[in-house]
Amino acid sequence: MKNIAIIGTGYVGLVTGVCLSEIGHHVTCVDIDQAKIETLQQGISPIYEPGLEELTKDNVQRGRLHFTTSYHQAFAEAEVIFIAVGTPQNPDGSANLTYVQQVSEQIGRHLTRRDTVIVTKSTVPVGTNRKVRDWIISQAPVDTRIHTVSNPEFLREGSAVQDTFQGDRIVIGTDSPFASILMEEVYSPFGLPIFSTDIESAELIKYASNAFLATKISFINEIANLCEKLGANVEDVAAGMGMDTRIGSQFLRAGIGYGGSCFPKDTKALVQLAGDVQHNFDLLESVIRVNHEQQRKLFTKAMEVLGSLQGKRIAMLGLAFKPNTDDMREAASLILIEELQKAGADIIAYDPIAMKKAQAILGDTIEYSQSVTECIQNADAAMIVTEWEDIKNTPLSTYVEQMKTPVILDGRNCYTIEEAAGYPVSYYSIGRPSST
Ligand code: UGA
Repeated sequence: MKNIAIIGTGYVGLVTGVCLSEIGHHVTCVDIDQAKIETLQQGISPIYEPGLEELTKDNVQRGRLHFTTSYHQAFAEAEVIFIAVGTPQNPDGSANLTYVQQVSEQIGRHLTRRDTVIVTKSTVPVGTNRKVRDWIISQAPVDTRIHTVSNPEFLREGSAVQDTFQGDRIVIGTDSPFASILMEEVYSPFGLPIFSTDIESAELIKYASNAFLATKISFINEIANLCEKLGANVEDVAAGMGMDTRIGSQFLRAGIGYGGSCFPKDTKALVQLAGDVQHNFDLLESVIRVNHEQQRKLFTKAMEVLGSLQGKRIAMLGLAFKPNTDDMREAASLILIEELQKAGADIIAYDPIAMKKAQAILGDTIEYSQSVTECIQNADAAMIVTEWEDIKNTPLSTYVEQMKTPVILDGRNCYTIEEAAGYPVSYYSIGRPSST
């Protein structure tokens, strides 16, 4: 088992660190955020991620998992150092590498071993790993040998722990045989397929995978928009398409577009990256444009159905960008709220988990409620934005009983058309015939 240091305790770093300790490695996670580290030292997870807190507590107690703010302490014994800090978006869409550069320089200053393997987990543009090596060497003792590895992650928020143990593949990009052997030892206990390649290809696999998944979503959303005009049902179209194993049935759920911290940022960064080498990635630009429109879809529908939104009470069901997370980054809810408010509507929202984070962003510009039932009371229309279990499972009779006018704009196709037709509700969904 290895001595591993992980820099950054965000989603990627924390999940990676905790899961590596769970399979027996000795892991020290380092972060500059003192309060976060203190919380983690008590075994409390600062993020909502199913299974994470239990594993954190357990491995801290077993003495395999440590948290510190001291680089010195973290790197003292480390054979492998993972970089898992954020790469936020620059105003032009490119990835901001400030944090990656800062931690690389810190690594250089604190290295004690002759050979150290540096693994980049953060999603970084092609070519960054080579820069990481230069940044480290610029600060390191002269005889230090740095072995860089690109090891992108494919975790989904909300199932990150499960994805780590049951992922489809582990990608390792390196030109160092020393690092290659060591990474094999780090990851083999997971028993997952390992795909080895060069650094640049590994870096690109991450962007290409996210861009492809985003393309699938925008594609099915365009088909959904066509379905609405042609009288077809996108769910049947997607099911029929997905039976072709070359297409695959996953990521063909039509809805209100993709959000979150990854797809919007990574698609823009790849367009930017292509531009840097004079390549017009027109296809991906269209994917981004389609998503921009799709995130506003429920607003457009509300305008069509209700006419004016002035003074209308709109119930927003779900605020997080997807279920099982409290993440509000690039959530369609935020875009919809802005559009609705500009049109004069009053918003009352409910989310089982993300309310606190939403409140930090939206303050008292909207009302908040504690349940679906409370949220839809006396509403002129309800918008289903996130398909949480309690939202999906709300009986349609509740809408009939509670709302002023039972107009449901379902951005996640939570009910079947047949179900909706059985109730006196006006039901509009994505890519399917409406029932009024
Ligand atoms: C995504 C990828 O799925 C992960 O493989 C990747 O590691 C991660 O980005 C990352 O780069 O870190 P995540 O953003 O957590 O993971 O969420 P997804 O479950 O992929 O969903 C993204 C968005 O697409 C959500 O807004 C979801 O509602 C939407 N979506 C997804 C659809 O609209 N339709 C679908 O069929 C699937």
